[in-house]
Amino acid sequence: MLPHEYGIEKSRRYEVESLARATRDERPGRQVNLPQTASLRLGDKAPDFTQDSTQGPIHLYEWMGESWAVLFSHPADFTPVCTTELGMVARLKPEFDKRNVKVIGLSVDPLFRHDEWAGDIAETQGVELNFPLLADADRRVAQLYDMIHPNAHPTETVRSVFIIDPKKTVRLTHTYPAATGRNFDELLRVIDSMQLTDEKKIATPANWKPGEDVVILPSVRNSEAEKLFPKGYTELKPYLRITPQPTD
Ligand code: BEZ
Repeated sequence: MLPHEYGIEKSRRYEVESLARATRDERPGRQVNLPQTASLRLGDKAPDFTQDSTQGPIHLYEWMGESWAVLFSHPADFTPVCTTELGMVARLKPEFDKRNVKVIGLSVDPLFRHDEWAGDIAETQGVELNFPLLADADRRVAQLYDMIHPNAHPTETVRSVFIIDPKKTVRLTHTYPAATGRNFDELLRVIDSMQLTDEKKIATPANWKPGEDVVILPSVRNSEAEKLFPKGYTELKPYLRITPQPTD
């Protein structure tokens, strides 16, 4: 089977299976019943693993070193949304690098499929796959990170994202459905917020973007705030004090 036929066949099978499941699942007590994996929560230690990738075997903790990591799964190789996502992450890699963040993708397809698909990504997205893609054919990592949601699809990973900090703590998780491509600018925005709020006694408000005003943590007294935020702040409420983003 040619690579593109494999992809089309997988997408078709996915749609047929999803439809069948949606119909079945409307009946009470007919949910797919697979062994439960513990889901990871914020603040948990990120499980370590060794797995094959397009850049050779990867031992997560060693590969991360002192960097942050974004580990993200996608449902299958040779599928349209995943192709655009991997192209986008490859284009944004310099932005992740600037923030000391390593990116690593995953699907449960085998390595030779990843290698074939990388050619399509370069051809259609105009960028080489410049980060590793885990070939998790034995689903070792998918199980560890609870990336298979059996009532959505029995065997393929959903679009999971884990941001892991240099201490190997899980700092963000999110899960998107298969048919919705993610917004990777949002991941960069969250990383900017986390790296700033780790350093300063502030938090970032709704829809904040780097360079915009931030809020002072409610635990900081006004007398301390005056020293910590020499540019001053506006007190809208005792718990809502706004200050320019600290730059030093
Ligand atoms: C995709 O990546 O294009 C895709 C994968 C599974 C279902 C729908 C779309």
